Amino acid sequence: MALNRGGVAGGAGRVHPGDPSGKSPEQLKEEQEKREERVQKGLADDGGKKEVFRPTNDFVPVEYDPQYILMVNALKKYFPIKGGMVSKTVGYVRAVDGITFNLKRGTTMGLVGESGCGKTTAGRTILRLTGEKTGGQVLFNGKEVYDFSAKEMRSMRTKMQIIFQDPFSSLSPRLPVGEIIGESVREHNLVPKAEFNDYIDEIMDKCGLQPFHKERYPHEFSGGQRQRICIARALALNPEFVVCDEPVSALDVSIQAQIINLLKDLQEQYNLTYLFISHDLSVVEHISDTVGVMYLGNLVEYGETKDIFDNPLHPYTKALFSAIPIPDPTVRMNRIVLEGSIPSPANPPSGCKFHTRCANCMERCKVEAPVQREIEPGHYVVCHLYDNEGK
Ligand SMILES: Nc1ncnc2c1ncn2[C@@H]1O[C@H](COP(=O)(O)OP(=O)(O)OP(=O)(O)O)[C@@H](O)[C@H]1O
Ligand code: SF4
Ligand SMILES: [Mg+2]
Repeated sequence: MALNRGGVAGGAGRVHPGDPSGKSPEQLKEEQEKREERVQKGLADDGGKKEVFRPTNDFVPVEYDPQYILMVNALKKYFPIKGGMVSKTVGYVRAVDGITFNLKRGTTMGLVGESGCGKTTAGRTILRLTGEKTGGQVLFNGKEVYDFSAKEMRSMRTKMQIIFQDPFSSLSPRLPVGEIIGESVREHNLVPKAEFNDYIDEIMDKCGLQPFHKERYPHEFSGGQRQRICIARALALNPEFVVCDEPVSALDVSIQAQIINLLKDLQEQYNLTYLFISHDLSVVEHISDTVGVMYLGNLVEYGETKDIFDNPLHPYTKALFSAIPIPDPTVRMNRIVLEGSIPSPANPPSGCKFHTRCANCMERCKVEAPVQREIEPGHYVVCHLYDNEGK
């Protein structure tokens, strides 16, 4: 899925052939390569004069804890913004700006936040689908995902899968469904040839699809069935971890429930671990064991679902959750309306990034970024209001 948006380019910049500085094309190319290297390391593209961003090793590495299938530590992903005649890097979109959380095997973590806060980029960066990370660690079963060789990564791909919001655009229109589901199984030699057909039938059955569906093409299915095909395709590779990026947002409410229940059943049967990205807080509450709340590239709060929903601590989480409708006409909703629009991730506010919209903002919030604190066991928050609590 291409995610380049609004004048922001993710690729390497070009070297202008007729540079007015009089430098040779070789010199320019060398400088360009150095700049790109700095970008990958999370440093400023300023020719090495001044560091704007801290380098990749600005975090304390975590030790592997076997109870977690996934450990994400201070993960960053910045996209360069190109501008001017020579397509120079003029800034960065700090899509993911240092997120930290752990995920236990066989559980689901919901990831919520307003549009553009970096949920999809976080999921894709964890799966190593956005090129190099800018900083931090991603440990999958204790191994740094970004240290895998190309060959190792190829086999890791089967263990770490993604399901997208729009099932139609992620399915090839020219392949029959049996081929869509089986293509990668064959490629990775996951089952002996003689068992291939039975294997695909079994996976399809688990996902609520009939054997005769194998011959049909994606356009012959409904939205819900297409999402089942996507789930079957992911499941066929026998994954351990699946990023579900808004998997039900494009579906009718009744179909949403079926797909959610299917994901839950499959999780139980195969001990799957999900990172479940969604705008829909009710769906997240239903499916998740833990929940993370993102704002402008940062995880501002995370913990057990019950703790986050019953006792939200961060002012942003409180505002976000105050919009959940209460199915009782006698209860008055105390909705907190956030003033102002979301700042740009290319030019985020100083200190606490939420300070421009926070009703509790103090002077120090404008200059000093808060750190993540564990306020009660497993409940983490990033806010100066809790500086004297927790650890
Ligand atoms: N490939 C890219 N190149 C440049 N900028 C990008 C790229 N991908 C995402 N962005 C920017 O990063 C920020 C986070 O985008 P992302 O898609 O991760 O947000 P999101 O929380 O998933 O939003 P939504 O809820 O709308 O799906 C946005 O400002 C987006 O424009
Ligand atoms: S750190 Fe300050 S500005 Fe940020 S959320 Fe907390 S109180 Fe509000
Ligand atoms: Mg998204």
